Parts: sequence; C-alpha cells; structure tokens
Amino acid sequence: MPVILGGAATSSDTIMLLWRCGPNQTAPSPRHAFMSSDIKKQHRDSFTSSFGVLAATLGSAVGLGNIWKVPYLTGANGGAGFLLIYLLATLAIGLPVMIAEIAIGRRGHANPITALQTIAPHQGPWWLIGVAGMIGSFLIVSFYSEVAAWVFAYVIKALGGTLLSSDPNVTAAAFEALIQHPLRSLIWQWVVLGLIGGILTMGVTKGIEAVTKRLMPLLFLLLLVLCGVSLSLEQAATGLAFLFKPDFSRLTTTAVLTAMGLAFFKLSIGMGTMMTYGSYFKREQNIPVTAFRVMCADMAVSLLAGIAIFPAVFTFGFAPEAGPSLVFITLPAVFSQLPMGQAFMAAFFVLTAVAATGALLSLIEVPVAILHERLRISRRRATALTLTLLALPSAGAALSQSLLANTRIAGLNLFELFDFLSSNIVLPVGGIFIALFVGWVWGRNNFRAALSNDGLLANQQLANAIFILLRYISPILILLIMGKGLKLF
Ligand code: PHE
Repeated sequence: MPVILGGAATSSDTIMLLWRCGPNQTAPSPRHAFMSSDIKKQHRDSFTSSFGVLAATLGSAVGLGNIWKVPYLTGANGGAGFLLIYLLATLAIGLPVMIAEIAIGRRGHANPITALQTIAPHQGPWWLIGVAGMIGSFLIVSFYSEVAAWVFAYVIKALGGTLLSSDPNVTAAAFEALIQHPLRSLIWQWVVLGLIGGILTMGVTKGIEAVTKRLMPLLFLLLLVLCGVSLSLEQAATGLAFLFKPDFSRLTTTAVLTAMGLAFFKLSIGMGTMMTYGSYFKREQNIPVTAFRVMCADMAVSLLAGIAIFPAVFTFGFAPEAGPSLVFITLPAVFSQLPMGQAFMAAFFVLTAVAATGALLSLIEVPVAILHERLRISRRRATALTLTLLALPSAGAALSQSLLANTRIAGLNLFELFDFLSSNIVLPVGGIFIALFVGWVWGRNNFRAALSNDGLLANQQLANAIFILLRYISPILILLIMGKGLKLF
C-alpha cells in the first residue's frame, strides 16, 4: 500500500500541518488521521548494517570541514595551539552532545521535531530544537553547497589541466573567474544540489547508505596517497612542526570560540543531523562506541588533511595563513610543482568532492525527513520542496562574490554571514538546548536506558558520566565560550 497519499499540500496548509501534526496532537482532518495510522504501520527506511551506520555517520562528519575549514583555520590561527583547543572542545563538549543527539533520534525513531515530541510529550516546546535545526540546515547548505560547487568545478578543471600553474596569481585569477561569475556559481551550485537531491530521493538505505558505503573507503585511500606524497617533500618537517607544535601566544578568545564552533560543525551536531541519523540506527547499535569511532576517524581525516597540505605549502614557499582560499588558490599552485601534479590535484579535488557529498546528504536529510514525515508527502516531494526552499538563501551565498558583493550585514557578505551564524551561534545554542533537554527533562534513567540498549550493554557508568557532563558542564562551557568569543561579557 503506498504510504504517501494526496497531492502536495498548499503552502498555508503545509505550515499548519508541519506544526500541528505531531504524534500527540490530533490530526486536523479524518483524511490525515487515516494517513497517520497508515504511516505508523509502515516500515521505516533505515541503515541496514553496522558498516552502513558507520559509513553514513562518518560521511556526515567528514566533509569540507576537514579539508577546507580545519586547514585554513589552523593556518590562520597559528597552528597547533588552535588544533589542541579544537581537540579539547571535541572531547569535552562535542562527543557528549553527539551521543545525546543519536540517543534522542533512535528513541524517538522519527525526524527531530517528532522525536522530541515523542520522547518528552507535554513537557514544553523542546521540539523547537528540531525547527531550529531545520533553519540551521538551510543556513549551512546555502554556503556549503557553494564551496562544494567550487570543488566540483575544480575536479573538471584539474582533469582538464587548466589549473596547472605554479604562479599563485594565475591560480587566483582562475578562482576569481569562477566565483565572480554569477551564472557559473549558480549553475555549479545546482549541479551539486541536484546530485544530492537525486541520491536523497532514493531513500536512506538505497541512497544515503549505499552511496556513503562506497565513497568513504575511496576517501581514505586518496587521502593516504596524498599524505605519502606530501611527507616525501623537502620541507615536510616544517609543515609537521607547524601542525603539531603549539604556539599559544596566537590563541585569542575569538580563536577559542572558532575552535568550539568548528567542533560542532565537524561532528555535525547542534542542528538535528545526528538526531535524524540516530533515528535510522539499528536497535542493537552501540551508540557511545559508534560516536567515539566516528569522532576518532573524523579527527584522523582532519589531521591527515593537514599532513597532506602543510608540508607541501611550506616546501613551495607559500603562506599557511591564506584563509578560505588556501585550498583553491594555494594548493593548485603547490600541486603544479609536483611530479604527476595534475593527477594528484585531480585526486585531491575528487577526495574533497566525496567528502562534501556525504556531509551534504546529511545536511539536507534533516529538512527532507521533517517534511516527509510531518507533511506526509513522499521523499521525492519532500526533497523537491526542500530544494525549492533552498533556492533563495543558497543563491544569496552563491552570488555574494558577484552581484551581491555589496550586500553586507555587520561587515560580512551573505556567504560569510551564514557561515558565522551557523557555526558560532546556531550550532552551539542548539548544543546547549540538547544538553539541557537530556540533563533536565529526559532524565538520567531514560538516557541510561537508551545508551545501554535497554540494559543489554553494560555501560551504566559511562552513561552516568556523559549524563553529568550534559547536565552541568556542557551548557555552562558552551555559554562561557560563546559569551567570551562574542564579547558579550
Ligand atoms: N561535518 C560536516 C563537515 O565537516 C559539516 C556538517 C555540519 C554536516 C552540520 C552536517 C551538519 O564538513
């Protein structure tokens, strides 16, 4: 029996349904009541194997963050000191919040809004975390899909050999020609969004899981090859020292906020992505162990990306603090000086495109799951609706270097604004509320039951420790770092 009935809801219908059709509310019409019970009986698409869970979750965490953000932020904030703070924030704040999100998602067995309503009915509007997540997803996808667009365009350019020049002025001109061309920026962005949309309509098992299971091993393989090349270069030691020897004099409070925001961004937490993926986890999946593995593998990818990039940057005499353009201007110039540089450059951008794909799938899955389940429309329609809603903000980010270059808010163009707001405000605030929800509303017993798979795993003490972190430490720490970083006190 097809689950999805009826045509697409009209927009006002849509908004009403979205908020009113929770599991605890009465559905607005008999037709919807029928659909509701019908949907409950339906088998929910999910991840089918432990490797699939790991590949998809790691696919979400590993992304442009590792290859584009971590290296340029590390370069711009003085190297190892910044990395160390990022590592600490990941362990003390990121990991507990990630575990909490996955646990909520799996217990609620639904999109973030419904999941929060299901596990804590009549206990306040905590489902708003899911709504904020959806907004966060739109903010991030808008600029993220544009960076992914550059990467996909660079795959073609690298294969065609048009980026081969050891002169950074030439590679800079090539980059500017791409980002300052309104139509090219938009077209590449929609190539990426269309591809991701296509995979998402195939579903969780056949789309997300199947694709990430194939792409993740490829990513590791390419990364290891590039590290090998980089480590064989003359200045490998200088690059490694920059990456691993802390210089705390360059660490400002803003850098600490940036490092924490990066921890959230990297682990895909604070906006319901991990809740959504948690809802596809198998009942017997060990949540803390999976989260820990994903965190370690994600960290490893960031470090390997740093190892692949910095020795090469130093060997050919470039500045590590080039900022966001490091990957697009500095690296092509670096690769051009290597033997077989064109092949390695192509490998690098394929690797980055792979990473961006896994992350974008999980980012866009948040609104898709919400719209699919709340509005009871098919995944295909939910994906189409999501992409339609994305058209405006993503065009804003894509055109921020050309037609909208003069549109600035608080000194930032739209691209920078979306990036700043999401990493430094939406995700950390989301993290505070997720921690408070588990610590003060859902409660210790429910949390322990969820983490131990209802008593099947002997991890009570671990669950207790994570619970204490979530109840007291994480919210205060996040608030302090945000307050200081944003100069609120
Ligand atoms: N973790 C992804 C990256 O590093 C980005 C992301 C953020 C994905 C939030 C999903 C949710 O690129």
